[in-house]
Amino acid sequence: MIEELDAIQSEALNAVATVTDDAGLEALRIGFLGKKGKLTAASAGMRDVPKEQKKNVGQKLNETRQAITAALETKGAELIAAKDAAQFEGIDPTLPGRTLPKGAQHPLTLVQDEAVQILRRMGFALAEGPEIETEWHCFDALNTPADHPARNESDTFYFENGKLLRTHTSSVQIRTMEKQAPPVRIIAPGSAFRRDEIDATHLSAFHQLEGLYVDTGVTLADLKGTLEFFFRELFGEDTEVRFRPHFFPFTEPSFEVDLKLHATGQAAKWIEIAGCGMVDPAVLQSVSESRKDDAFTADGISGFAFGMGIDRLAMIKYGVPDLRLLIENDVRFLGQFA
Ligand code: DAH
Repeated sequence: MIEELDAIQSEALNAVATVTDDAGLEALRIGFLGKKGKLTAASAGMRDVPKEQKKNVGQKLNETRQAITAALETKGAELIAAKDAAQFEGIDPTLPGRTLPKGAQHPLTLVQDEAVQILRRMGFALAEGPEIETEWHCFDALNTPADHPARNESDTFYFENGKLLRTHTSSVQIRTMEKQAPPVRIIAPGSAFRRDEIDATHLSAFHQLEGLYVDTGVTLADLKGTLEFFFRELFGEDTEVRFRPHFFPFTEPSFEVDLKLHATGQAAKWIEIAGCGMVDPAVLQSVSESRKDDAFTADGISGFAFGMGIDRLAMIKYGVPDLRLLIENDVRFLGQFA
């Protein structure tokens, strides 16, 4: 029986040495070690081995099984290694990888997010309204008379049905007050559109951030405190904020807000940044007529509003010299914000 086992072992090892694929290897495993395999069959002969030789022959049987198993395993590993090597053929895995270009948020998104976050900390909730507006929401309800130059066809994009592309985000003030009674404390970032010649400081589609706070007993001090805090958070603690009397149809009194920045590295000068004021009673009256209640005309109700250009905030924040850079999508410019 010892010779028979030797013969099976050498047959198996020779066969394993010449096999070239997984299927062939598996066939050999079954052929020698499987239930009906040659070694299994041979082991049945143990029955006839004389008692005093059983130990020896049994040991030989184990060794043969181990030798064949080891040969099958080694060959299996070799086949996997050969497959890997074939996959890498022609590839130099030591070459450095290709760098993927890094994506970045647009500078307008960056300032807008920062501005929104500051105002949300002060309790302002996000609001929105349509970009295609009615004349009433964009102008009439905001106390802007029919002969106001802003309503001129040479300044505003009108549709044939009489609607228009909103010229400012102030229309969201009206939209919000129509559906929500005081207290109202909202900000509305969004696009606005004007028939402007495009140049370094004008775009026909631009971005604004509107704010509105209406409640009992809101005062000019609240407005000043809110905007001063906001601009100092956004542009640095030493930013000076100045309120200059102005006129807007929808606020009374109205102001323009100027900033003096000290962190830009240039000689500090006043720059105009926003419009604001106390909500004009005529605006609250329009809202009341639309709502058919006195939620906004009741005694003691007052409010402030403000609006500013987000594009301008980005120009100041990042030192962008020309507004057109913000819409050209030149990756050499945008990549600087990655
Ligand atoms: N809507 C004005 C504009 O587009 C900006 C503005 C001024 C908004 C005063 C306001 C405000 O809410 O109170 O120029």
